[in-house]
Amino acid sequence: MARSKIRVPDLLARKAQGPKIVAVTAYDATFARLMDTAEVDILLVGDSLGMAIQGHSTTLPVTLEEIGYHSRAVARSEPSAHVVGDLPFLSYQISVADAVRSGGYLLKEGGCESVKLEGGESVAEQVRALVSAGIPVMGHLGLTPQSVHRLGGFRVQGREPGEADRMLRDARALEAAGAYAIVLESVPTELARTITEQLRIPTIGIGAGPHCDGQVLVCYDLLGLEDRLRPKFVKRYSELGQQVVSATRAFTTEVQNGRFPGPEHSYGTDGAVRPEMATLPEISSSRNPIPSTH
Ligand code: KIV
Repeated sequence: MARSKIRVPDLLARKAQGPKIVAVTAYDATFARLMDTAEVDILLVGDSLGMAIQGHSTTLPVTLEEIGYHSRAVARSEPSAHVVGDLPFLSYQISVADAVRSGGYLLKEGGCESVKLEGGESVAEQVRALVSAGIPVMGHLGLTPQSVHRLGGFRVQGREPGEADRMLRDARALEAAGAYAIVLESVPTELARTITEQLRIPTIGIGAGPHCDGQVLVCYDLLGLEDRLRPKFVKRYSELGQQVVSATRAFTTEVQNGRFPGPEHSYGTDGAVRPEMATLPEISSSRNPIPSTH
């Protein structure tokens, strides 16, 4: 039986009632369908796609149109999971109007059901305006990759004096502005626990310990497809990368030694030989001549 669609009120209710929220990133219809079959709660079309599939070293180059393109593909798989679209760098920071226009685009054209943005007090106005326009918002605190240059790299946040208090203030500001959940990325376990206990909305951790109300991982990390970065917080539940290499190597070998395609992967004429087929041997002998080396 198909499970029912997961909506914002269902996610909010999980804070008190459980079970923990499970979120994964998804960037295309095939992975979205497979991970929805595994009954995740949230498919996040994260700007991590800039690193995971576009090959960039940060998320900064990702555009709103690119998030829209990938979220349309994810939404086309008609998942029961809630589809969240990431607002990329500079699509919401400059003005409140930009934020509403960008968020509206991801709902209208991208098939998203809510949006995520990075930052706390500094984007509270944007969150308020998005929510008033009917666009649910997920916040993101701690290691916010769009600020990687200001933060000095992809490193744990909330360890320096004053940082923990600031993060708690930011979390409260997001909740007061109407955010329905907050991602906490690369935050010490005890700080994530305190923030989780102080809020009425759920926290979703990535590198933030076990006390958050949910967990999120980048799908390429959890499936073992990403080898360049291996943060401590990633658990690889599979080694699909190795399987991709060995399957492709087997295909290469079989094409080269003539084992593929075999009769089971080839079409017969089913007894109905068309007259023009009689000329085929002649045609094929004139095609693909073996190149001469002299
Ligand atoms: O872009 C992304 O995928 C994210 C998650 C890692 C939370 O922000």
